[in-house]
Parts: sequence; structure tokens; C-alpha cells
Amino acid sequence: MSDTDTGTTVRTIDANEHGYRGFRLGEFTFTRDEYFAHIGWPTGSHVMSIDDFLRAMQRDVAWNFFYGTVNFDHVLGTVNHYGDVDLFAGTFNDSYRKAELDHLENFPHDDIMVTFRAILDEWTNEGFDPFAAPEETGSAWGDKAGGNPDAIGRRRVAAQRMVGVPGDEELRSDETGHPINRMFADVDQSEPERHPEPGFEDQVCAFNLFAYLSRSNVTWNPSVVSVCKDSLYCPTTEEYILPIIHGNDRVEWFVQLSDQIEWEVADRVTGSLRARVTMKPGDVAAMPADIRHQGYAPKRSMLLVWENASPELPELIATGRAPTYPVGL
Ligand SMILES: [Fe+2]
Repeated sequence: MSDTDTGTTVRTIDANEHGYRGFRLGEFTFTRDEYFAHIGWPTGSHVMSIDDFLRAMQRDVAWNFFYGTVNFDHVLGTVNHYGDVDLFAGTFNDSYRKAELDHLENFPHDDIMVTFRAILDEWTNEGFDPFAAPEETGSAWGDKAGGNPDAIGRRRVAAQRMVGVPGDEELRSDETGHPINRMFADVDQSEPERHPEPGFEDQVCAFNLFAYLSRSNVTWNPSVVSVCKDSLYCPTTEEYILPIIHGNDRVEWFVQLSDQIEWEVADRVTGSLRARVTMKPGDVAAMPADIRHQGYAPKRSMLLVWENASPELPELIATGRAPTYPVGL
């Protein structure tokens, strides 16, 4: 099987008794059964609940491997080098490293992307939406049954200037297929008044971010709504558990816009716990560049993730020329 867009090849394994094809990428193998994803490599193997695996895979694919490390769990994950990508097992787990069971391979971006897309497509059954909150989707379990290409193929919002600016990402509405989420029924939907001088209509813009977020149909999916050089505002709505454990390669600011998220913060390399952070509306946190973190949201909440997208940052921080924290005393 090959991908004609990129010229890269997806290596498959014949369908098993549950109807699912498996996949090979480098020396890694991926297979699924009714309940689990099974991952193998020359020195070890790993198993994940299939719903957790698909939710993590969905983010890694949709975010284009994101910034830094996307840990699917405490064993498996990817590191984005912005052009090529590491796929690893146990590399950021002290026990695996000490036992020499860890394995890491580097792939060109397109090779790992087409394989990950193929896995996500093959293993997501009709009725299961890996982007949705558990209360808002069906089951990931069982033998192969159809697919859900519309859910897994959602385009990630990535504004060039700002949502709502003429020619840029559009506002959300019932008409665009974005009804108000059940947990945000009380969010004011009025839009700000704008009075630009003639000729400045495409430059003087404003929109109601709370209304915009109340109509998000996905969870844990930071989308770019405004851009100022390397400064990206990436708000998102969160419910249940962040399906990946994100390892930062730069400082990341969080502004809790509504409700509550609890963050478990650990050392990026070893995974040893460093802090628990409970964020309530109005709270601001700067997550350091040397941590991994996973969030828990008991109710759908709004979070503003503020990213510095400067391509020089990971190298500056890795070589000690920039600090791992944002503000000194
Ligand atoms: Fe992060």
C-alpha cells in the first residue's frame, strides 16, 4: 500500500481474526484486537487500551506531532524535530532505559505521518470519535466495523492573522456545523460592536472568544486563533483526560478561562513527579520547558494555551543558552 501524495509507503500486515490490518514502521509493529493496541519492537512490547491509543494517535496526527514530545503513555511516543520525527518506546522511562528495553527510531516526517494516518483510519470504527469527550461518542471496542473518516479527518483551525478576519478562519455557528456544547449553554453569544473607519474593515476586527469556544466540537485540541509573529494564541476546550502526556520543548503559558483543570507535572526525561497544579478560572501558569504534563478536566472547560512558535527556541533551551523557565526572580 502506498500513499500517492507523498510517495511514501505504508507497510501493512494482513488482517487478523478481528478484521484489523496491522502495520510496520521501521522495526516497530502495530496490531489491534477488540480491546487493545499492541506495539512491538526488537527489545520489547507494549499494550494500550485501544480507546486511549486512538485518542492519543488522533492528537499526534492532527497536531502534526506538536511541539516537543507527545507521550501516548509512560512508554510510547514521538519527538518532533520539525522535519523528522523520533518514534520511541521506553526512551523517557527510567525503568525501560535501565533494563535496556528502550528503542528509538527516527523517520522522515511524511513516512511516519502516512503510517500514523493509516493506523488511525484502519482502527477507528464507525461511531467512535477519538476527538470527542467520552460522554459524546460511541465505543472503540470490538471487531472491525466501518470507519469514521469525517471525525478523524477534521481540519485543525490555524488562523493566519485572527479568527473572523476577512479571508481567514471563520467564526463558528449552527450553520457551520458547530452547535453550542451542552456544557456551555449559558455562554453569552453576543459579538462585540466594531466601528472601523472606511478602508479599515479588514484590519479592525474582534470576536467573542468565549462564544467561539462554546461551539468547539472537539476536546484537547489547541487551535491557532490569533497570530502575532511567533506568538500564537491556541485556546481549546477540555473534558476528561488529556489523551497524551505532553513533553515541552519550550515554555508554555496556560490561562484558565473557565471551570477547572488539574495538571500532573513530571520531569520530561525521567517521568518522576514534580507538581500537581490545580487551575481555576483566571489562574495563569507557565509550564517550564523541561517538564511533561497531563491534564484532568472534570467538566468541559476553556483553556488558553499561549505558545511561542520561534523555531530557534528548542535548540537555545537544549544547549542552555535560554532558561527552561519564563520569569526569573
Ligand atoms: Fe505542553
